[in-house]
Amino acid sequence: MKKELITLTINREQYDVVVEDNELLSNVIHDTIGMTGTKYGCGTGECGACTVLVNGEPVLACITLAKAVQGAEIVTIEGVAPEPGKLDPIQEAFVEQAAIQCGFCTPGMILVAKDLLIRNPKPTEDEIRDAIRGNICRCTGYTSIVKAIQDAADSGLCCRSKP
Ligand code: FES
Ligand code: FES
Repeated sequence: MKKELITLTINREQYDVVVEDNELLSNVIHDTIGMTGTKYGCGTGECGACTVLVNGEPVLACITLAKAVQGAEIVTIEGVAPEPGKLDPIQEAFVEQAAIQCGFCTPGMILVAKDLLIRNPKPTEDEIRDAIRGNICRCTGYTSIVKAIQDAADSGLCCRSKP
């Protein structure tokens, strides 16, 4: 398989990585770069565990070629906090609501919520449920997850700009 050196911009840092032609973004982020917050669940674009933001839009990294996102701004769960040692208001709300059980779905949920609250700072419950419809929580903690996103919106602290 042909290999190529590419540069990815992740969480405002540049990474030079050698990738195969068909190498997936999830693999590069998780295995090559070592940002293990991006999870690999189904591998077929159905569970949302691998969600990252690419130019501010949620993207499923398990069905995205790494080569295809050169030059884009990629944000993983490691990049949503405003500064080291602090949490994003959505992360804080997830902690307060205990909206985390095994935590496997949590990075994807938070990144999808980030996108939602930037587009729609005051979503209804139905709009929140619609936004996370592509993200599966195998622990079925949806009630707490929806409440956490609603709390983050209600705090007014959240998501005035893209991370
Ligand atoms: S691992 Fe990407 S959608 Fe499931
Ligand atoms: S907390 Fe376990 S999959 Fe959602």
